[in-house]
Amino acid sequence: MTSFQLPPLPASSAGQASRFPAGSLAFPHRGLLGIAGLAPHEILFLLDEAERWVELNRQPTKRVEALRGLTIINAFFENSTRTLLSFEIAGKRLGADVVNMHAATSSVKKGETLIDTAMTLNAMRADAIVIRHASSGAVRLIADKVDCPVLNAGDGQHEHPTQALLDALTIRQSLNFTGGEGFVGLKVVICGDILHSRVARSNILSLTALGADVRVCAPPALMPEGIEQMRVTPYHDFDKALEGAEVVMMLRLQNERMTGQFIPSPREYRHLYGLSPARLARAHPDAVVMHPGPMNRGIEIDSTVADLPERSLITRQVEMGVAVRMAALEILTRRARGMEGWA
Ligand code: CP
Repeated sequence: MTSFQLPPLPASSAGQASRFPAGSLAFPHRGLLGIAGLAPHEILFLLDEAERWVELNRQPTKRVEALRGLTIINAFFENSTRTLLSFEIAGKRLGADVVNMHAATSSVKKGETLIDTAMTLNAMRADAIVIRHASSGAVRLIADKVDCPVLNAGDGQHEHPTQALLDALTIRQSLNFTGGEGFVGLKVVICGDILHSRVARSNILSLTALGADVRVCAPPALMPEGIEQMRVTPYHDFDKALEGAEVVMMLRLQNERMTGQFIPSPREYRHLYGLSPARLARAHPDAVVMHPGPMNRGIEIDSTVADLPERSLITRQVEMGVAVRMAALEILTRRARGMEGWA
């Protein structure tokens, strides 16, 4: 067992601790299915809790026993590198037993329905289930059938809540602020395949809830109709969208979700929507660059930009992902662990 002591809440948040309701009222949800439905203070609560795990993850020994004896199942029905590994590492660092179920080698391949798979996982008495699925809404379907908390690790074009949380935490850490005030009026550009992207959707919900000035940029065919209703400003001209931007978040083309031809050619897409050093120069001089991965270097982002030592936050995003997932797992199992105030 490690002697690591979980650090207290960050100073600024501790000072404002009363703005978080006590106990389970701070996060009254049974699972984490999306950013939609979360209040701004609940998002900030998750970020502050995640911040406490960042330090542990930088220690030589990265393990506590908070979730000892609990079983977490990662059920991934769609490919993943970052999210799957990150949830696995998060669960193990919290002391839980973590089991990964890959759809490619499961009975899903033999025709088992999603509901039957859910009932099977439930019968194994998991304490939390993390699900990625190619269909929007599949995670909620499973959540409604099981007794334990469910965490959405990305469902179709719908939501990827832990990605948005890790992105917000990365922004907060790299721009060196705590609490939520630094998000207010922050100029963020999200550029790429907005239509098919669950990352875009969750980030729009989270960043607008926190008061950021969010611009979305995409070719007309990849911009959802009525996107303005999500309190963002749409652009088709990337150069214009970049003017004064403080955060530039690039997205890949989600070819696996496209039916038909959405762009004339990758070369033309790169010309109009790729982030090159010259284009980044249109943004704020200190603008930071983000990408959820996996990246298509030379299409939506040039390697020279992706690998910028100070301004590219791409590896920092991965690091924050583990902390955010530890926070989500720890918070959502408080009720099952009988923590005071979380009955
Ligand atoms: N960002 C993200 O969800 O990456 P993976 O598909 O590798 O999990």
